[in-house]
Amino acid sequence: MDHFIISNQINFMKLLNRILSSVTLCTLLISCNNSSENNKIPFAKAVITKKDWGEVDGKKVYLFTLENSNGTIVTISNYGGTVTSFVTPDKNGNKSSIIVGFDSLQPYLRQPPYFGALIGRYGNRIGDAKFSLEGATYKLAANNGKNHLHGGIKGFDKVVWDVSVPNDEIPSLTLKYLSKDGEEGYPGNLNVTVIYTLTNDDELKIEYNAETDKATPVNLTNHSYFNLSGDVSNTILNHRLMIDADNYTPVDSTLIPTGEIKSVKESPFDFTSSKLIGRDIDSVKGGYDHNWVLNKKDTSLQKVAVLSDSTSGRSLEVYTTQPGIQFYTGNFLDGKFINRDGKPLKQHTALCLETQHFPDSPNKPNFPSTILRPGKKYYSVTIYRVTLN
Ligand code: GLA
Repeated sequence: MDHFIISNQINFMKLLNRILSSVTLCTLLISCNNSSENNKIPFAKAVITKKDWGEVDGKKVYLFTLENSNGTIVTISNYGGTVTSFVTPDKNGNKSSIIVGFDSLQPYLRQPPYFGALIGRYGNRIGDAKFSLEGATYKLAANNGKNHLHGGIKGFDKVVWDVSVPNDEIPSLTLKYLSKDGEEGYPGNLNVTVIYTLTNDDELKIEYNAETDKATPVNLTNHSYFNLSGDVSNTILNHRLMIDADNYTPVDSTLIPTGEIKSVKESPFDFTSSKLIGRDIDSVKGGYDHNWVLNKKDTSLQKVAVLSDSTSGRSLEVYTTQPGIQFYTGNFLDGKFINRDGKPLKQHTALCLETQHFPDSPNKPNFPSTILRPGKKYYSVTIYRVTLN
């Protein structure tokens, strides 16, 4: 009992210190009930700090630190809506980030391959950088050979978002961006709002909202790269992965889906039961970089994937309302970018699980539609939840 009181007093002093030293304290909630019956002193706090991180396009860039009542920390910048770190303890209590990234803005301006960023207006590729809609053909920026990738030359990952902090018990951030009619070739003014929340269940929840004034394709996602060991000298080939998907969308040599929805059965793409990522990767040319067609039948929020790493004891559960997930094994990472821990991000040192609609849907009538029309609201949710085994 004494131990609880002392540790909570220490926590309280630490918290006070944090408040005094924070550049800006946005939200603070403390509830402290003395309960002699159950030996527990509930101590809930929600802390967000904000620091100046630089300037891009004449707009201020900040780094926000969200901390939940377990001491789990997520840092997010309004530059690209980028999640720069997700710090959790491993099974030995050692804390490290399970998301790769940098501690300053500068390296993000050297255009790393979308580390932690929000992706839009269209996640993944649109073939030949064009599509037709309501009788008109739209030519998009071709920034991946002849194809359009992740929203174009200056996608949502490279813009400064307007940011506000809702006055809540749970730490969260609201990011807004107006993508103007014609931006990167897309029709319509698209108003996008993304809400990041760090819950007390160690979930990073991402809610995506959008509205348009002309019909346009929309496919929003987040491009965090995970390495659950928290140390990028370990590859992710020793992580295990389960994806609740009986089918995937095969691609051509430029990574555009052929249009076929193919069974994963008896193929390296079968992750219906948890298996080591490295087990079959050598039989997939270039590594995994494909869209899995999730088994879920509706737009309810469901658990669709579980990633685990036995060394650290960490697991990552992915929940989404979306119909697909891009599982990408960091095939193009070549050591050019150095992670925050000073280690190079080489091939397969991190992986992405990007919840999404299927790539090239605007040109694939058999894929679920990605067209948002005026008067309709785009809404999707994805949760990344960390657990310890
Ligand atoms: C996505 C794509 C990959 C690659 C990465 C960024 O995940 O599917 O092909 O372009 O983004 O490098």
